[in-house]
Amino acid sequence: MEQELLKLKQEAEEALAHVAGTDQLEAFRVKFLGRKGGLLTGILRQLGQVAPEDRPRLGQMANDIKLSLETSFDDRKALLSATVGEGVGGTDYSLPGRYLPFGKLHPVTQVMEEICSIFEGLGFAVAEGPDVETDHYNFEALNIPKHHPARDMHDTFYVTDSTLLRTHTSPMQARIMERQDPPLRYVVPGKVYRCDSDITHTPMFHQVEGLLVDRQVSFADLKGVLTSFTHKIFERELPLRFRPSYFPFTEPSAEVDVACVICGGNGCRVCKRTGWLEILGSGLIDPEVLKMVGYDPDTYSGFAFGLGVERIAMLKYGIDDIRMYYENDLRFLCQF
Ligand code: PHE
Repeated sequence: MEQELLKLKQEAEEALAHVAGTDQLEAFRVKFLGRKGGLLTGILRQLGQVAPEDRPRLGQMANDIKLSLETSFDDRKALLSATVGEGVGGTDYSLPGRYLPFGKLHPVTQVMEEICSIFEGLGFAVAEGPDVETDHYNFEALNIPKHHPARDMHDTFYVTDSTLLRTHTSPMQARIMERQDPPLRYVVPGKVYRCDSDITHTPMFHQVEGLLVDRQVSFADLKGVLTSFTHKIFERELPLRFRPSYFPFTEPSAEVDVACVICGGNGCRVCKRTGWLEILGSGLIDPEVLKMVGYDPDTYSGFAFGLGVERIAMLKYGIDDIRMYYENDLRFLCQF
């Protein structure tokens, strides 16, 4: 009987170690500790047939084993309920895994990267500048002195008297030209800020600035570069319109419109019934700006442009409200 008891103890301990869930734990209890038909109970019942002098010792031993198995059983039960979710706050490892959707680049970021890669294909390098800019680079260095009326067009967010959130990526024109001699070709992607909000304006939006300086650069070069760019980005030859305009840092200046893709040029609320949508401002760099960075305007000339990334993304994807890009509605964002 002693052998039987020891064997049972060993078997039970091994079985308990392999119990993985509450069902198995209950099966263990019935098999080893069950009052009716349990193996230990079975052995205890035979105690009456044992020689009287051995009875106390074996009885004591059986009881010790019973107690030890019951303790191990309780420990195991506590452990399982802590890990298998029977208890409060537990984790049920048998549940199917939760689906984690893959993140993607924001459509505006995707378009901005695409714009840059088209210009990289045309030999432009990519540079970036600070969002918090000085009044000097955002305005002064671009031929927009303190009381110039052009400052009104910018609806500037000031940080201090002399620092602000850049209202365009153009400050990088001066920063690049100051540190490098021509020839140079750069695009500058980035965020810009203006106190403005409606279906075609958000207070923060993205621009890609373009800058090319060399000998004998003409308006024809600007037109050629922008035309081949728009054909590439829209993947078709959309009609383009160079409309005379004014910027203090370019002369002559032009804004470029593409035929409105939302309405096919017939006029809708996005193009304000004109059939055209402005996508960029551009021009030949004003000789004053060249002089301020120390270039000789008789030797060098150049062009610059500033593209509105959201506008291009709207046209590319037929989105009629720019604010959609910033509402963070996954049903909208997941389509790109
Ligand atoms: N910075 C101008 C704007 O944001 C665009 C521009 C860039 C115009 C470069 C001319 C040259 O409106």
